[in-house]
Amino acid sequence: MGQEQKEKTSLLSVRHLSISFTRYKGWWKQEQQQAIQDLSLEVRAGEMVAVVGSSGSGKSLLAHGVMGILPYNASWEGDIFYKGELLTEDRLRELRGREIVLVPQGASYLNPFMTTGEQVRQGRRDLESRTQCRKSLERYGLGAETELLYPFQLSGGMARRVMIAAAVQKRPCLVIADEPTPGLHKEAAKWVLSHFREIAEDGAGVLLITHDLELAIETADRIVVFYAGTNLEEAQAGDFAQERQLRHPYTRALFHAMPGNGFQATAGTQPYKEDFPKGCVYEPRCPWREERCKQPVSYRQLEGGWVRCWRDL
Ligand SMILES: Nc1ncnc2c1ncn2[C@@H]1O[C@H](COP(=O)(O)OP(=O)(O)OP(=O)(O)O)[C@@H](O)[C@H]1O
Ligand SMILES: [Mg+2]
Repeated sequence: MGQEQKEKTSLLSVRHLSISFTRYKGWWKQEQQQAIQDLSLEVRAGEMVAVVGSSGSGKSLLAHGVMGILPYNASWEGDIFYKGELLTEDRLRELRGREIVLVPQGASYLNPFMTTGEQVRQGRRDLESRTQCRKSLERYGLGAETELLYPFQLSGGMARRVMIAAAVQKRPCLVIADEPTPGLHKEAAKWVLSHFREIAEDGAGVLLITHDLELAIETADRIVVFYAGTNLEEAQAGDFAQERQLRHPYTRALFHAMPGNGFQATAGTQPYKEDFPKGCVYEPRCPWREERCKQPVSYRQLEGGWVRCWRDL
């Protein structure tokens, strides 16, 4: 961690977060299924941290855990701090939608009965809110006529931009963006991400959740790699310039799967949460596996980043 980063204010600090779901087996029997385990990460003011991982790795759950909007059958453990203070339910209620905002993954989060303008203004009708709303929509390439449209009249890309405009309307300190670029071609995706970059440059912290490692490397400061409900590595975006700077074999596999590095797929798939291994979650696919990998592996600092693996670089 560089001196400059140390000095930046910590906005969000997630420590040892675990999330599990209660599932009914038959009529009476209940079982707990772990979906996230021992997840820790930090977002500081003025930086953009990307969480990258394949489908089902727990990215949205992390976002929902921080926002306090987990489903009723979920329970969680661990600590979440915001600006150095424990993020209690009461505090979260005050901050959610104002200082801490989520740009959710699906357009279904928009209210189908409210026009775009009403949603971005969040019900306010005063002149200042109207002017601000028009400016926000314009910033995301949407004309004044969009204000009168209902969600069903918007294309998927437009709906996503409306959600971003609504979320950042109040100049939040922490923005969590859950997959803001699905289905967009590369240039459009870059354009959307450049806005999040701007938000970070203006001093807010941005937690970007994405499948797209290449875009994450281009726009974020740090990359946190998720797999099977936990983080296997945290690297500086610049570490992806060379394979040997990457700390975990899964991150190296992702590196080799990138278009510029040969598109090489790795054998095997991420385990389902029903079958998470007891030890290292990547052990069944790992080219470096040893006997000790069947034991739980802790997350440790290594060469300016973090890794959940015994091996040194
Ligand atoms: N309400 C729920 N009940 C039970 N399991 C759930 C529930 N919501 C999510 N999960 C499980 O938690 C795991 C992580 O889900 P999550 O939505 O966070 O994945 P993700 O990384 O966001 O995937 P994607 O990239 O497809 O959006 C998955 O195995 C999912 O099936
Ligand atoms: Mg998701």
